[in-house]
Amino acid sequence: MYVCLCQGVTDGQLREAIYEGCCSYREVREATGVASQCGKCACVAKQVVRETLGEL
Ligand code: FES
Repeated sequence: MYVCLCQGVTDGQLREAIYEGCCSYREVREATGVASQCGKCACVAKQVVRETLGEL
């Protein structure tokens, strides 16, 4: 599903960024561009990152 409509970033892409080495929300944001425009997706994006990091 799309987490960020402005940048067209999906939850899968956020997870992928973590599997490829990102280890914080900041790094995921820099790698994917998520939440870099209107910022409305930040809350959900953070949640996905937190859940994914918790699973690793
Ligand atoms: Fe992600 Fe706007 S929906 S920055």
